[in-house]
Amino acid sequence: MSYLDTVDAYTICIGILIIVLILIICGNGWMNRSLPPGPWALPLIGNVPQLLGSKNFHLKCLELRQIYGDVLHLKVGGVDVIVILDYKLIQDTLKNEGEKFAFRPNWLHVLNKVYRKKGITWNHGANFERLKNFTKCPLSQATGVENRILDELQSLSNIMDLSRDKPVPLQKVLSKAVTGIICGITFGARYDEKEPDFLYLTGLLEKFHKQSIFQLSENFMPWVRFLPFQSALKDFLDVENKLRTFMKKRIQDHKDTFNEGDIRDFIDHYLNPNKKDRIESCVSDDDISRTIIDLLYIGPDVLTSAILWAILYLVRSPGVQKKIQNELKEVVGTDSVAKISHRAKLPFMRATIKEILRIASPVPMGYPHTVTENVKLAEYTIPKNTIVFFHLQAAHNDHTYWKRPQEFRPDRFLDDGEEIKHDCFFPFSVGPRACIGEDLAQNVMFLFLSNLLQKFTFKSPEGASVPSTESVYTNSLRPVEFDVVAIPNE
Ligand code: HEM
Repeated sequence: MSYLDTVDAYTICIGILIIVLILIICGNGWMNRSLPPGPWALPLIGNVPQLLGSKNFHLKCLELRQIYGDVLHLKVGGVDVIVILDYKLIQDTLKNEGEKFAFRPNWLHVLNKVYRKKGITWNHGANFERLKNFTKCPLSQATGVENRILDELQSLSNIMDLSRDKPVPLQKVLSKAVTGIICGITFGARYDEKEPDFLYLTGLLEKFHKQSIFQLSENFMPWVRFLPFQSALKDFLDVENKLRTFMKKRIQDHKDTFNEGDIRDFIDHYLNPNKKDRIESCVSDDDISRTIIDLLYIGPDVLTSAILWAILYLVRSPGVQKKIQNELKEVVGTDSVAKISHRAKLPFMRATIKEILRIASPVPMGYPHTVTENVKLAEYTIPKNTIVFFHLQAAHNDHTYWKRPQEFRPDRFLDDGEEIKHDCFFPFSVGPRACIGEDLAQNVMFLFLSNLLQKFTFKSPEGASVPSTESVYTNSLRPVEFDVVAIPNE
């Protein structure tokens, strides 16, 4: 082959490459005409370079909103992502068109491999709906759940009592208490924190929390799995299999000891042949195992974050803390235990919990939704398989709705002592994918805060500055670690 022939071959290859690139770029632009605005995306990797440096996706979206407006389009690898930041559009879409957006992108490579379309969070369709309805009941049952919460609260309160004027290791003790509640409700265990089973289970869950499985690059650029890099997929699969084996063992133990006259927990509820809402036979032990893992993965993490935020804002606002304590004194007294039945008579406590959930927005963007057909959204057309996020935190801080949203003011939820409902308030989201643990979360927050405030006043340790409202994102938004002391009330 002559030198000229070689040059021609190179030139032709480079020419073809350039034409393909132009086609991809132009095609990208042409196809995106009906999509909302967003930053210019590169072929194959999309907006990954713009997103890489930013630790917190929810904050990056707030930044991009300043440039592109209230509905954003991003391309992450090969996947279209829409973020809705306008509170009216969030509300209208979730309330009126929730069904069209009720799917999860469980077809993404890693999610599909690990979750295998089981459980609740990464599932949709008829099996998911049946499981979700079935699971709601044991999470909301008032009396059994109340006793479990009060049991854990007693241990927590003892630790605070013992800590005297030393800082309480809040994150650790709260996380242990709420994990204990959810283990109790789901499979009946009342664990001691040193028990090998508890350490094994929390160790596995911690591994899951270390890295966001959704954000793994293989989900958005499946071709990266052919590159010579170590993938986290294998580790996730290993942890998932161990967790499922752990849960299946619990189900087997329940089968061996099942007694129709004594329904102990969620697993017994599933095994109960007489239950009117008996789950149909198409739901397997594997579905129930994965559902319990979903509850244990999300519940303790978000609840710990929410209660940490509550204590942080109470430390920062001694006046609010005092007002709740006075309300509790009047309604519950100083010696009785605050119960769920007291909640209706404690409007300021209820308003404070709402304000904490608004200002902190522990799950700032909900979890990713998707659409399984082309869907109209305002003036845009969202193509099938686009991932859609509802930016709940943006709604909770919208200046056009809330007066001085950055201020912690529980009384924005009260009018003349009566509770006010706000349209722009959805910490648990709304519609078919709304949080399944809302009732439980409300009960835990109410019982923890009222009983703890009845006994203690939370303060920063002597000489320490007030805790900052800066946040870190684990799998929920929580405050950066802060020191607090629990001073017993006179
Ligand atoms: C203050 C505490 C909590 C907050 C603020 C919260 C908030 C949320 C939000 C915003 C979503 C996403 C909904 C969406 O994708 O549109 C969600 C989903 C979910 N939450 Fe919660 N949550 C809390 C506590 C809990 C607890 C205690 C549990 C379990 C015991 C739980 C279990 C779940 C599950 C399984 C989902 C997925 C539901 C689905 O995919 O349909 N959450 N939560």
